[in-house]
Amino acid sequence: MKKFKIAIVGATGLVGRTVLKVLEEKKLPFESYGLFASKKSAGTVFSILGKDYVVEELTENSFDRGFDFAIFSAGGETAKKYAPIAAKKGCIVVDNSSHFRMDKDVPLVVPEVNMEDAYKHKGIIANPNCSTIQAMLPLKALEDKYHIKRIIYSTYQAVSGAGKDALSDLANTDNSKPLKKFPYPIYNNCLPHIDIFMENGYSKEELKMINETRKILHRPDLKVTATTVRIPVSNSHSESINVEFEKDFVIEDLKNTLKNFPNLILVDDLSCNLYPMPINSNGHDEVFVGRVRRDESVNSRSQFMGCC
Ligand code: A2P
Repeated sequence: MKKFKIAIVGATGLVGRTVLKVLEEKKLPFESYGLFASKKSAGTVFSILGKDYVVEELTENSFDRGFDFAIFSAGGETAKKYAPIAAKKGCIVVDNSSHFRMDKDVPLVVPEVNMEDAYKHKGIIANPNCSTIQAMLPLKALEDKYHIKRIIYSTYQAVSGAGKDALSDLANTDNSKPLKKFPYPIYNNCLPHIDIFMENGYSKEELKMINETRKILHRPDLKVTATTVRIPVSNSHSESINVEFEKDFVIEDLKNTLKNFPNLILVDDLSCNLYPMPINSNGHDEVFVGRVRRDESVNSRSQFMGCC
């Protein structure tokens, strides 16, 4: 079997380190790894499957070594400059930043949902926003069966999604240090402010959820709204999703539809207080869904709510 060479850009960041951990766990057929970050991290050593790799400063020449794949998680500006360089040198880039997500030449992919789009790439494949990704699994399952009319997202997002400086702000429980990431303390607080605010009053994070949902589900006309909030939990995003469908449903059938979707786990037994929580989903690849119920505030028989 051919063995591949992979570059990880942003290897020292929270996502980069998790990517390394997952690649190690999955034992994918990589012959070698190239680890890249900013100049300040050059020289850091990481061990992967028993072999030491030295982190290098990312430069325009970093992709001259014939990498087959590159996973970028180093922010939009880094992706904007270096992902096209890597792609030009024959590398398939998977970028975690928002920079290319809405580019019509860049597929935006959640493997369980629209894997077929990935094969249309021109060198760069985008990875959706973290709150969008997990919502796509239940929504795709339900879209195929009931056809979605409207989605209302409310999120409860973990601090790790904002990077390592954000986790340092969460650990600053006595306010003794200056904040590194957030405009206000996140410890003991909730911040209805993720990314920048736009002229229409939405945050950019909310617009990402709206636009990315439409692109991934191939529903440019879909009615979607979102309110995104950062909460003082280290890992694992939570969200409430209220959905209106074209078709009527029976709640048990709807639950079975969710249960049968790949990598989606229904945790929904109120008789023994079973529902999804970050302490249980942290570290898992699957999406956990629960509190599934009919929305009784509308006359329609086609609106449901759930959490994941
Ligand atoms: P570094 O650790 O050297 O700053 P996080 O999202 O957890 O803050 O991590 C961001 C990742 O992106 C880190 O690995 C960081 O490297 C990397 N990074 C940030 N800016 C650049 C840049 N200009 N060139 C290369 N890597 C960068």
